[in-house]
Amino acid sequence: MINRTKVTVVGAGNVGATCADVLATREVCNEVVLLDIKEGFAEGKALDIWETSPVNQYDTRTVGSTNDYSKTAGSDVVVITSGIPRKPGMSRDDLIAINAGIVKTVTEQIMPESPDAILVIVSNPLDVMTYQAYKTAGIESHRVMGMAGVLDTARYRAFLAEALNVSPKDIQAVLMGGHGDTMVPLPRYTTVAGIPVTELIDAETLEGIVNRTKKGGGEIVKLLGTSAWYAPGAAAAQMVEAIVKDQKRIFPVCALLTGEYGQNDLYLGVPAKLGAKGIEQIIELDLNEEEMALLNESADAVRKVAKSLETLEA
Ligand code: NAI
Ligand code: 2OP
Repeated sequence: MINRTKVTVVGAGNVGATCADVLATREVCNEVVLLDIKEGFAEGKALDIWETSPVNQYDTRTVGSTNDYSKTAGSDVVVITSGIPRKPGMSRDDLIAINAGIVKTVTEQIMPESPDAILVIVSNPLDVMTYQAYKTAGIESHRVMGMAGVLDTARYRAFLAEALNVSPKDIQAVLMGGHGDTMVPLPRYTTVAGIPVTELIDAETLEGIVNRTKKGGGEIVKLLGTSAWYAPGAAAAQMVEAIVKDQKRIFPVCALLTGEYGQNDLYLGVPAKLGAKGIEQIIELDLNEEEMALLNESADAVRKVAKSLETLEA
């Protein structure tokens, strides 16, 4: 039997529509369903994307849906981007009260239609929203993950490419922790075409890039008045591609930790292998004392946000 692949993207706003566009243009799957609660919005975006197909030369079909989950039935992967983005002066954590309810409702409606789907969460605050989706879906943790590290490392790699005047294609990097200002870019695991980055850049410039990366989301919010979408949409699509095509790619992924890095029952960014089963392996790096302390600090920050969700729900 020939398998047709189907991906649903919930939330047809900035990030969701960009993700759908990348999935279609790159022919990651045969069908992309875009769903939104706003009347006609997802249909309009899906139609506009479909109308690029003759120009961009692809045949992935894009379909829109106003809150009709039957159209999402049988999805292989579901990306959840629904929720409010932050405005200047807001942190990702300020979004929790509204987005937690949205992620829960959406997950409850997605799962009966696509019981075998793998979920990729994008809504913020990312690590806690991913945990929320995992608890609501009631499925194995390897099938529920969050997108943040692919975006955060992309920012880190882009800044490094600019500073070194080299192609971003040649920069490989690992970044761990939560999707917030405590994220942990790891210069010791950063290379330029295999050359340790520390051999090519001075410590002060590197530190500046690490700090800029940590605040990379806020830099865009200040410029645009809302959060980013091109890089987040493309990053989510790259994770979907790794799953749909069983690529076994290694990305920083927000995954449930059950003892890894000394953490339990916490979704946090760690290097992981993505393939057809979702998260197929969590890679445990031999972090030094300083790196481990930074990771613990980031884990504590995520736990604090998770606690505030418990208070809201109580
Ligand atoms: P947006 O406002 O452009 O789009 C959000 C869409 O969700 C809207 O079209 C809205 O109608 C829809 N929506 C709201 N409630 C819904 C529901 N119950 N069912 C279906 N659709 C619903 O926002 P944008 O910029 O696309 O951001 C979306 C989320 O992604 C935000 O929470 C933002 O903070 C987060 N984000 C996360 C990133 C990450 O790295 N994890 C990066 C960028 C954004
Ligand atoms: C970003 O990092 C706000 O999470 C969003 O762009």
